Amino acid sequence: MSADRAPFGVYIHWPFCLSKCPYCDFNSHVRHAAIDEARFVRAFEAEIAATAGRGGGRTVSTIFFGGGTPSLMQPTTVGSILDAIGKHWTVAPDVEVTLEANPTSVEAARFRGYRAAGVNRVSLGVQALGDAALAALGRLHTAREALDALALARSLFDRCSFDLIYARPGQTRREWQDELRRALALAPEHLSLYQLTVEDGTPFSALHAAGRLVLPDEEASRALYDLTQETCAAAGLPAYEISNHARPGAECRHNLVYWRYHEYAGIGPGAHGRLEVEGTRRATATEKEPEAWLARVESVGHGLVTDEALTRAETADEFLLMGLRLAEGIDPARYRALAGCPLDQARIAALAGFGFIETSADGRLRVTHRGFPVLDAVVADLAA
Ligand SMILES: C[S@@+](CC[C@H](N)C(=O)[O-])C[C@H]1O[C@@H](n2cnc3c(N)ncnc32)[C@H](O)[C@@H]1O
Ligand code: SF4
Repeated sequence: MSADRAPFGVYIHWPFCLSKCPYCDFNSHVRHAAIDEARFVRAFEAEIAATAGRGGGRTVSTIFFGGGTPSLMQPTTVGSILDAIGKHWTVAPDVEVTLEANPTSVEAARFRGYRAAGVNRVSLGVQALGDAALAALGRLHTAREALDALALARSLFDRCSFDLIYARPGQTRREWQDELRRALALAPEHLSLYQLTVEDGTPFSALHAAGRLVLPDEEASRALYDLTQETCAAAGLPAYEISNHARPGAECRHNLVYWRYHEYAGIGPGAHGRLEVEGTRRATATEKEPEAWLARVESVGHGLVTDEALTRAETADEFLLMGLRLAEGIDPARYRALAGCPLDQARIAALAGFGFIETSADGRLRVTHRGFPVLDAVVADLAA
């Protein structure tokens, strides 16, 4: 990719899962009848054509199949969607194509087909390395199945990542340390490590409210977070974003598109996008409900339900919100260009005084290790 070409990502959302995990509030739906994948492919193609028609001229540097459970898609469905992207946009020769996969044996059987279709990076939702923890998270796979799926993925794809959820009910520091060391010994180039969050409207939220799901308190969560940072950094996978760790150079380029606030197209039910149209950054979102999205695309050619021009202040705030999640932080000059005014120096000085932010030697502003656990408050303080 040439240095002067800004990265551009395409996100494809596959909204179906075999069952709904009790902690999850992603746009995922369970259907007991077979999914008409051919019909979805036609709708994906139409929405890709419509989206490419609006901006045009972009070169796609990253593609991400997220969900839901994209590993429930037939490899031919993935291939057809990639073909449609290639038909309507220029695709960079070194494009990163990631697919999120659930690690069951049935899904692993499709990995070869995904590779043949053009997927070159897999992100596996392993979540935990023990069967009791997996059952408590409502997962459908065992630890053995997840390890087998990971081994197969590593043999087929140059680039693999997996997700774990920590700060689970009753999880001790020692248990997490052992689990994390085992994860690191599996030698991935990239790990996503999320603290369990209780999301409104989920079964875990009801259990939590009833006192039947007890999470580590703030101090214990902080200790688990610190342990995670130290253990991963010592193993050569420092955090490049709050929850994401990679060997240098193995960062997920697609997620960097979001966090570095470049442009991306969101395709499929409930997908979000950020596109510049005639010099204005627009926030887009599509209909979330899969069948309603299909009907909308079939009748009007796209599934957009939100398509708003962002003001300069909104753009600058989003840039801060995304960029400060990164260990590399943000370039204050880019903030100034977006906002039309510089960041408030008095607020920066106050936050630096608390040890929450710092300015690096090259002038970038970044959140410190101490500031990350209170990132939302830091961003709120700096925002326009
Ligand atoms: C789009 S989701 C799911 C991908 C895939 N369907 C799976 O479950 O393996 C991406 C990741 O978010 C994380 N996640 C989802 N809900 C979470 C929650 N409530 N707390 C912490 N992590 C969560 C999980 O690690 C999950 O793998
Ligand atoms: S965590 Fe993954 S498999 Fe579970 S419901 Fe959410 S998207 Fe589906």
